[in-house]
Parts: sequence; C-alpha cells; structure tokens
Amino acid sequence: NKKAFIFDLDGVIVDTAKFHFVAWQRLAASLDINFTEEENEQLKGVSRVNSLKKILEWGNKEVSPEVFQAKMDQKNEEYLELIKTLDVNDILPGVHDFLLELKAKEQPIALGSASKNARPILEKLGIKDLFDVIVDGTNVTKAKPDPEVFLNACDQLGYNPQASVVFEDSVAGVQAANTAGMISIGLGDQSILNEADEVFAHFTDMPQDYINILLSKNK
Ligand code: G6P
Ligand code: MG
Repeated sequence: NKKAFIFDLDGVIVDTAKFHFVAWQRLAASLDINFTEEENEQLKGVSRVNSLKKILEWGNKEVSPEVFQAKMDQKNEEYLELIKTLDVNDILPGVHDFLLELKAKEQPIALGSASKNARPILEKLGIKDLFDVIVDGTNVTKAKPDPEVFLNACDQLGYNPQASVVFEDSVAGVQAANTAGMISIGLGDQSILNEADEVFAHFTDMPQDYINILLSKNK
C-alpha cells in the first residue's frame, strides 16, 4: 500500500515565506509601490517572474524589460542574503519526523516547488537525500495553479495522481493539487486554504497514525 507523497517547499518544509515577503516588500518600496501582507498571501506558490508581474500590476507601474530583469535579480539577491543562515533548525515542526516516517514505510517522496532555489535550500536543511524526485522552478514551464509541477513529480515516481498526496501552504498550490486529482493537505490557515481536502496548522497537529490514514484515503 503506497502513495506518492509530494511536498511544496516554501511554507511547508521551511518558513521562507517570511523572507520572500521581506524581499518583495523592499523591492516594491524601491518602485514606490505599497505591498501588503494580503497581497503577499496571493504570491505564495507563485513563480518569481509572475510575482513581479502581479506587484507591478497592483501598483499600476510599468517598467522596461531591462528594469524588470534587474528587479528580479535584485529580489533574489536580497532573498539569498536573508536565507544565508538557514540550517536544519529551520525545518518546520514535525516535518523532519514525518519525512523519516515515510522513509521507514518505504513511501516515495517528491518535492514540487515553484522555487528556483529549492535544491540549495534542501541542501542547507540537510534533507535533500530524503527526496526521490525533485521538481522545482528550474524544471517546469507552467506555474501553480497549473498542476504541471505535481503531475511531473508523480509521473517521475511512477504513480497516478489519484494515488498522490500533496502538502501545500498556498491557495495556488492547493488548487493545482485538486486540479490534478490529488489529495490536497493544506498547511496553514483553514479559512485561507478552505479548498484543501484537509488543513492543519502544523505537521505536529496531525493525528499520530496520519500516514496510514492517508494511505487508505481516497480523493
Ligand atoms: C515558492 C514561493 C514563492 C516564490 C516562488 C519562487 O512558490 O512560495 O513565494 O516566489 O517559490 O521562488 P524563487 O526562490 O525561485 O524566487
Ligand atoms: Mg509554499
């Protein structure tokens, strides 16, 4: 009895969402755009390029392709500076144990992230080797809520979407999992992630035998 377990990175495995927020806020400020926490919520799971497009759209600003590229680079430089000190202690509560339990049960594990920084981040956290497959922003062309990233992951693991479980903290990611026909588990606020099949604030809030529950669960 097996399923493909697919994890988003930012906001599920590690709380980088707060660093993305800081970096985008500085970027927006440099363009004289006010950037709120509600807007940031809508950027979770959204690729770097699409995030900048949205910020410009919300701020009613247009920039040349050169400035656009420069702003993208600037955002990533700031972000990389902010996450410089990430290590094993930054793995969100319960995640490491959950991954190890999956390993012990010989369940296939994949990463499905929009981030182009996913591999170095997993290395910093010391958990890269736990993943059988990594699909990230360097592999996909269509951003969440398009299900490409998750379909690619379950495909590489050799599983059907119906036999896949996705862990997501973003609305776009939950929608992507649902569109793919996968079981969607939201991590965060129930009122924001209400489209998910189930929502937990943290992995530590899941029932003790949750992996077995998921293994016998149908979409
Ligand atoms: C994740 C985050 C987004 C981020 C995107 C791209 O989906 O939730 O906030 O914009 O990855 O990340 P990157 O590291 O490539 O800028
Ligand atoms: Mg996320």
